[in-house]
Amino acid sequence: MSNKKTILCIGAGYVGGPTMAMIAKKCPDYKVIVADINPQRIAEWNSDDLPIFEPGLDEVVKAARGKNLFFTTDVTSSIKEAYIIFVSVNTPTKMFGHGRGKASNLQYWEKTARSILTYSEDDKIVVEKSTLPVRAADAMGKILHSNTKGLRFEVLSNPEFLAEGTAISDLEKPDRVLIGGMETPSGKAAVQALVDVYAHWVSKENIITTNLWSSELSKLVANAMLAQRVSSINSISAFCEKTHANITEVSRAIRSDSRIGSKFLNASVGFGGSCFKKDILNLVYLCEHYNLPEVAEYWEQVVKMNDYQQNRFVMRVLENMFNTVADKKIAIFGFAFKADTGDTRESPAIYVSKMLHEEKARLAIYDPKAMKEAKHDLADLDQSLIEYCNCPYEAAKDAHAILILTEWKEFKSYDYAKILGLMTKPAFIFDGRNILDHEALFEMGFNVFPIGKTPLSHLT
Ligand code: NAD
Ligand code: UGA
Repeated sequence: MSNKKTILCIGAGYVGGPTMAMIAKKCPDYKVIVADINPQRIAEWNSDDLPIFEPGLDEVVKAARGKNLFFTTDVTSSIKEAYIIFVSVNTPTKMFGHGRGKASNLQYWEKTARSILTYSEDDKIVVEKSTLPVRAADAMGKILHSNTKGLRFEVLSNPEFLAEGTAISDLEKPDRVLIGGMETPSGKAAVQALVDVYAHWVSKENIITTNLWSSELSKLVANAMLAQRVSSINSISAFCEKTHANITEVSRAIRSDSRIGSKFLNASVGFGGSCFKKDILNLVYLCEHYNLPEVAEYWEQVVKMNDYQQNRFVMRVLENMFNTVADKKIAIFGFAFKADTGDTRESPAIYVSKMLHEEKARLAIYDPKAMKEAKHDLADLDQSLIEYCNCPYEAAKDAHAILILTEWKEFKSYDYAKILGLMTKPAFIFDGRNILDHEALFEMGFNVFPIGKTPLSHLT
C-alpha cells in the first residue's frame, strides 16, 4: 500500500534533484524518494560530490538526505510506496522521424508512464514536472487508465520554472508555483493535495491553479517569452554596432520603463541551456500541428535570431583578426551556458568553438566549473588543436585573442595587465557578455570588441 505522505520523483537530473531536496527540506512530514535509472547519477547524489554544481545545493541535500530524502535506482518499489509521483525525466528535441528537429522526444516520459502503470498497486497522483507539449497529460491519462487493475490516476501539470545557477533561491522563493489539473471533483482533490505540499513554504497567493492545458502551455510560453527578450536585445545589438549606438545605454533606457521591466535584456553571444531552444521549437512544432503557420513562424524567428547572433560573433572575430585565425591561439574564457553552473548543454561556447575549429584555430579553454563537460562536448574535434587549461593565465599565454563566453564574476577580477603581457600582439578581447571594463582594457593596450558597442581598437 502506498503512503499518502510519500512522494516519489522519477528522474534525478537538474530539476528532479534540487526540487525534491527543497520539498524534503520544507516538508519534514513527508518522505521524498528520487529514483533514476542511471546508477552513477544516483551514486553521486548519495556522495559528497553531487552530480550537478548549483550554489547552495549541497547544504539543502545534506540537511535532508538520509532523514526524509532518499536517492535510489529502485524505481519499482518506489512506485509502489509513493502516493504522489513526479515525473521529471528529460524531454529533448526529437532527432529522428516525424517532427525531427522540433517536436519533443517523449520516449523517456512514456516509459515512466508505463512503469507507473505496471508497478502501481493502488491509486496515485502523477505530476508532470518535465516540460511537455500541450495535451501531454491527455496521453499520460490514457496510458495509465489502460490498466486492468481498476486503479485511478489523477494527472497534474506542475511545470518547473527554476533557472540553473539560481535554482535554490528560485525554489525557496518562487515567483509562483503553477498547478494544472482536471476540473472534476477528483481532479480538484489532487490539485489540493499538491497545493498542501507547496503551502509548507509558498504563500497561497503565489500558488496558481489552472486547468491542465493552460499549465502545460504556460511553461512553453514562459520560456519562449524569456528567450524572445534575449533575441530582441541581441537583434538590436547588431544594429548598435552599425550605428555607434551603445546597447548597454539602449537597454538601460528601455528597461527603466516599468512596462518593459528590467530583466533579460543583457545582450550576449546568444542564449544557451537545455531548454530555451528545445521549448520554442516544440511550441513551433505544435503551432504547425494545429495549423497556425504565422504563429509558428513568429516564434521560430527567436531561435533564428539566436543562431544569427552566435554566427555574427564568430564572423566579427574573424574579420577583425585580419580574416584568418588559422594556427592562432584563441583563449576561450567560459564554457558553461551561463554563470554559476557547470552545465554546457546548448552553450554558445560549443558553437563558437566548433566554428573556430573549422577555421583551424588553436583553442585554449578555461571554465571554473565546466572543464569535464567541455572535453565531452568537443571530443569529436581534432584534440591536437585544443588545450584544456587549469587557469586563465595558462589559456592566455601566447594567445592572439580572448573570447569571453560566460559571465562568470571571477573573469572581472583577473590581472589583465599580466594577461596582456603573456599574449601575442596585437592582443584582442571579444567580450561576448559585456562584463569587462572595456575602457580600462583599451587603455592597457588591448583591442576590445564588446557586443553592441563601438570597438575600442588601436588598429584603426
Ligand atoms: P536531466 O537530463 O538532467 O535529467 C533527467 C533524468 O531522467 C536523467 O538522470 C535520466 O537518467 C532520468 N531518466 C530518464 N528516463 C528515466 C526512466 N525511465 N526512469 C527513471 N529515470 C529516467 O534533465 P533536467 O534538466 O532535469 O530536465 C528534466 C525536465 O525538466 C525536462 O523536461 C526539462 O525541459 C525540464 N526543465 C529543466 C530545467 C533545467 O534548468 N534544467 C528547468 C525547468 C524545467
Ligand atoms: C530558463 C528559465 O529562465 C527558467 O525559468 C526555466 O525553468 C528554464 O530555462 C528551463 O525551463 O530549463 P536557464 O536556461 O537555466 O533557465 O537560465 P536563464 O537564466 O534563463 O538563461 C538562459 C540563457 O539566456 C543563458 O545562456 C543566459 O546567459 C542567456 N541570457 C539570459 C542572456 O543572454 N541575456 C539575458 O539578459 C538573460
